[in-house]
Amino acid sequence: MENETAKSFDKHPHFIVREAEPFNAEPPPRLLRLSIVTPPELFYVRNHASVPEIDADSYQLKISGLSNRELQISLAELRERFSSRTVTATLQCAGNRRDGLMAVKEIGGEVSWGAQAIGNASWTGVSLCDVLEFAGMTTDARHVEFIGLDDVERKGARFGFGGSIPLEKGLSAEVLLAFEMNGAALAPVHGAPLRAIVPGYIGARSVKWLGEIKVKSEPSENYFQAHAYKLFPPGVSAQTVDWNEGLMLGEVSINSAICRPQEGESVRTGKCTVQGYAIAGGGRGVERVDVSGDNGQTWVEAKFDADDSSRWAWRFWEAEIDLEAGEAEIVARAWDSATNTQPEEARDIWNFKGYMNNAWHKVKVFVS
Ligand code: MTE
Repeated sequence: MENETAKSFDKHPHFIVREAEPFNAEPPPRLLRLSIVTPPELFYVRNHASVPEIDADSYQLKISGLSNRELQISLAELRERFSSRTVTATLQCAGNRRDGLMAVKEIGGEVSWGAQAIGNASWTGVSLCDVLEFAGMTTDARHVEFIGLDDVERKGARFGFGGSIPLEKGLSAEVLLAFEMNGAALAPVHGAPLRAIVPGYIGARSVKWLGEIKVKSEPSENYFQAHAYKLFPPGVSAQTVDWNEGLMLGEVSINSAICRPQEGESVRTGKCTVQGYAIAGGGRGVERVDVSGDNGQTWVEAKFDADDSSRWAWRFWEAEIDLEAGEAEIVARAWDSATNTQPEEARDIWNFKGYMNNAWHKVKVFVS
């Protein structure tokens, strides 16, 4: 039944469906690691409501807020008026690896993601900065809000999923209004006919089924900016939270995960090839990945695949470690160009919404 759901969204037969409706699903680790550019059939999906049906021919993008004029632009006008641009960028959900935080302490009402709520694609569209320049902005413009055409329900209210990014990021050429993914038209489940792509930021800011862009003096008050996708200290719970507090998530943090071998796999004694991905936020580079076969007592430096090309994309790495018979815990941690690295334990970064788990990634295998 679940694979039927995956099939109906053109996903791989082995896709792991975390929730059928709204559809939330991720690929198995070893399939994710097959290709540096993730094919759409293996690209994770994070939805908060049903996929809306949008007629591309009558679709109009609204641009409003502090800009000097209000605009409605059709897809054809957008393609004609602005030059198109392709950026290879990795999208990662802020809830990626939530299962590791859930293992520390219960997290209610959230999807239990493995380490595959992440994917890398080449996105084609127009630069948001060109559109903003065309629309014009007043001097008090500070944030750019994206609002989706889906119909989310939270606390009795219905609205489109949304969120904002600082204007400074919005004016960076890599932020796209994208209509293509890997050279083909965007699939409905990934935001057709138009979505925002905000490289280096949590996936939530890459709003799908984009209906409106609002230029604002303050961050978005949309539920998914003002309540969800905020990071709270470990002592705060759903019962005690003050939603005016908390860090609004933006740039992703340095992270890495092991894709092969997979958790619980049996491997042979001796040399074991370990493969995974690593990602740095905010356009910083991934500079080093350490891999350990003895839970961090000794480390081997991984080699990066040659075909990595974009500062907004993850890097694939591979390491060879020696394993002795018995149960082994393989561990990976990455370092970025600002020498940020991953914290050792998930329990040190537990938060009640289960965001931003970038603790050392650990995979248990049986060696015989
Ligand atoms: N945009 C809309 N309109 N509705 C959504 O539910 N989910 C966001 C973002 N954009 C979402 C959205 C989140 S949390 C993530 S991680 C990415 O889309 C996932 O993009 P994908 O489903 O194309 O992988």
